[in-house]
Amino acid sequence: MGNYNSTKQEIKNHLFARVPLIVIRSSERERIERMMREVASEMKIKICYYTDVKQVVALGASSDASKNVDRDPLTYAQEMFRKNRGSTFVIGDVRRISDENAFSREILDTLYLAMETAGTMVLVTPDYVWNRLAQFGLLTVLDYPDIDEREMQIRKFIASYSSKYPIEWDQSIVHKAAMILRGFTEVQIDNVLISVLVANKGLTNRNILDLTAQKSRLYAAVPCVEEVIVRADMDVSGLENLRNWVKERKRLFFISDDILDDYGLTAPKGILLAGIPGCGKSYSAKMIASEWELPLFRFDIGAIYDKWMGESERKMNAALTFIDNMAPCVVWIDEIEKALSVSDSSNDTGKRVLGQFLYWLQESSSRVFLVATANDISALPAELFRKGRFSEIFFIDLPNYTERKDSIEQYMYRCLRKRLTELELEVLTKMSEGFSYADIESVIKEAAQYAILHPEEKMNFEDIQRYFSNNIPFASTNPEAVKTLRDWGKKRAVSASVE
Ligand SMILES: Nc1ncnc2c1ncn2[C@@H]1O[C@H](COP(=O)(O)OP(=O)(O)O)[C@@H](O)[C@H]1O
Ligand SMILES: [Mg+2]
Repeated sequence: MGNYNSTKQEIKNHLFARVPLIVIRSSERERIERMMREVASEMKIKICYYTDVKQVVALGASSDASKNVDRDPLTYAQEMFRKNRGSTFVIGDVRRISDENAFSREILDTLYLAMETAGTMVLVTPDYVWNRLAQFGLLTVLDYPDIDEREMQIRKFIASYSSKYPIEWDQSIVHKAAMILRGFTEVQIDNVLISVLVANKGLTNRNILDLTAQKSRLYAAVPCVEEVIVRADMDVSGLENLRNWVKERKRLFFISDDILDDYGLTAPKGILLAGIPGCGKSYSAKMIASEWELPLFRFDIGAIYDKWMGESERKMNAALTFIDNMAPCVVWIDEIEKALSVSDSSNDTGKRVLGQFLYWLQESSSRVFLVATANDISALPAELFRKGRFSEIFFIDLPNYTERKDSIEQYMYRCLRKRLTELELEVLTKMSEGFSYADIESVIKEAAQYAILHPEEKMNFEDIQRYFSNNIPFASTNPEAVKTLRDWGKKRAVSASVE
């Protein structure tokens, strides 16, 4: 496994040692051709490079013209090895060499010749190599462009288009784009950038999400992971502690691995949001994705379980791989206790799948930020709380006076186009003691629905008050549940709001 520079160095070492066969595993022809050209010029040697399209090109020679070999390139290579000791011959995109066949046998013959004449044959292929061939040589793997290469490529791209299109990407966006474009070949990166650029007639900060959309097309979708579209401008009331945490950690989440390594840190992994129903756990998951301008994927762990032996593990694996490939992203597991409580029973599959998930949570180095929500924390397995799994646990309580006031004002305007006086606002805020955000939202929306259906009846403040007094909040029907949750929250979690 190597990036461009380390792979290049490896190839130079092998060539210097006159290893008869070097296999480069890669499907990126252009990148390898460029690399071999650099190798030729840095080692001051001539390298013959064959592809079906360009035929033979002598890299590092004075003239770079291609030579048509008409016949089989291997015949050409054999002639070359016979004529000049120590020659290097590269075949750019080799197929059909995973098993024994006429072609792979001919390569084997050519290799014997290369060995006798101190020559080297280099095969570039994305496939496995027939083991009788492989035993003659050394394998080096060229990975897809790493983060630094991607950043450089994006900067080059911007430089070549910025005179024709408005491009707003600054250094931090370039870095983020480079993170998103992980897993793409050089050619794919250029294709994605150009198609997003042309479709939007320029590049703005929001286009970063288009890059992810392109990426999700690249990987086969998995049924238990679904993208959730999030609005860029969400109205969020209260939750200051949580929001400040999210704003602060944003920088840490996007910092490069090098810097984190220097300080022995890791990027924030995720948070657990516990709290009273209807107070903004799910809403906060969306808020985080929106704040960080990252795609949000909802992961339905419950749908992983399958009655067939081994099938759950396979599905979990596929889901986690998909998620890793989508990084950087926010992954949201809603009501995690429901999915994980399966593992409480004597159910072995449940335990194994939970183990798989926890292991990933701890070990995965990809930039995935997990937001898990829970209504019933007593049902959560204790392993989930071990250090290193969640960066923080927040407790989301019923909205306090200011938060309710803020949210009533917002919903009254959004749903009823009504600006309340300070006094009216205070009356409703007092009436809504014990309401969740969901209660406030549904009460005002009910009133709004009525207003739309009966435009002739002018809705006055008394009518609105009536909607408020008719609502029976969860807190008053389930006081014990609320108390238990709050007690737990005080002991084990950080408050999401400023108290
Ligand atoms: N901080 C908030 N500001 C404004 N509205 C909110 C806030 N939190 C929740 N809401 C509203 O309340 C509703 C219920 O919130 P939700 O996140 O679904 O609750 P739960 O904690 O049960 O997941 C949401 O549809 C959202 O519109
Ligand atoms: Mg919810």
